[in-house]
Amino acid sequence: MFQRFRRTRLNKHLRSLVRETQVNVEDFIYPLFIRSGKGIKTEVASMPGVFQMSIDEILKECEVLKELGIYSILLFGIPDTKDSIGSDALCEHGIIASSIRAIKAVHPDMFIVTDLCFCEYTDHGHCGIIDETRETVNNDATLEISGEQALIHAKAGADMIAPSGMMDGIIETLREALDKAGYENLPIMAYSTKFASGYYGPFRDVAESSPSFGDRASYQMDPANRREAISESVSDELQGADILMVKPALAYLDLVREIKDATSLPMAVYNVSGEYAMLKHAGNANLIDYDRVVMETMVAFKRAGANIIISYHAKEVAKMLKSTK
Ligand code: PBG
Ligand code: ZN
Repeated sequence: MFQRFRRTRLNKHLRSLVRETQVNVEDFIYPLFIRSGKGIKTEVASMPGVFQMSIDEILKECEVLKELGIYSILLFGIPDTKDSIGSDALCEHGIIASSIRAIKAVHPDMFIVTDLCFCEYTDHGHCGIIDETRETVNNDATLEISGEQALIHAKAGADMIAPSGMMDGIIETLREALDKAGYENLPIMAYSTKFASGYYGPFRDVAESSPSFGDRASYQMDPANRREAISESVSDELQGADILMVKPALAYLDLVREIKDATSLPMAVYNVSGEYAMLKHAGNANLIDYDRVVMETMVAFKRAGANIIISYHAKEVAKMLKSTK
């Protein structure tokens, strides 16, 4: 048999015709941090380009996002008051419920995903109700109020619910609560494989959600465990999740691929705050060609199997995609 070991060098046109992986503006969900007040737009020192904003500023931001072609957002709330059970998250007039209604009134075409958790709303900063005796989160008590939080989001007009607390049985609980209340077509994106990670550091600054004692290792996953990572996602698929997620993204792309192959659901990656901060600060210090490295990173997410990329880089990527067209 004839074998030619020299590959034909393709020109730019043909390289783009045969490229296996595409990054599109439609792939992105952009996270937003909302607090009460007016005219507030405060940049986060650890994450240049990321802001805490009041609702009026968020409405302007949505305009900018739509011009860029980004129609999907993920909301995080920073409440005025925190308490032991995160009451603001369970109230129709809480920061998230109010924000959803305000955004939908002005931008009905925005697809609103809500992060469902308690760490931003509790005074102890943990992702649920604390079990005094064990100094950890009480899983089942947290499940109960999570169902309530989901209905608050649904009634306010959320388009998709994304539980991020890693409580066992959360997907089944939310699916039942939503179905019973008539929201059987409201999708759930599970933070199905979420690791206990140092990469969340800057997020906890912006969301003001650092735990006041202990850490999240009792409910988030050990980065060393591959088989557990797969089974967590498989379990969420069985419980009725519509989309699975791996978080953080960069150090876990092996699992994006493995979970994609082990399940039949669409996959999201969460390109988290620490990952953003590393590239941003390296770019600002002229250590890397920022745009190039960002795009290379996004391609890697897609190549690993992600359908959806949740990223603080979304606006920059949208601009890059526009300028290369
Ligand atoms: C809340 C939540 C966190 C992130 C998303 N939802 C923080 C955490 O679990 O400590 C992290 C996002 C990021 O780092 O960008 N549970
Ligand atoms: Zn949390």
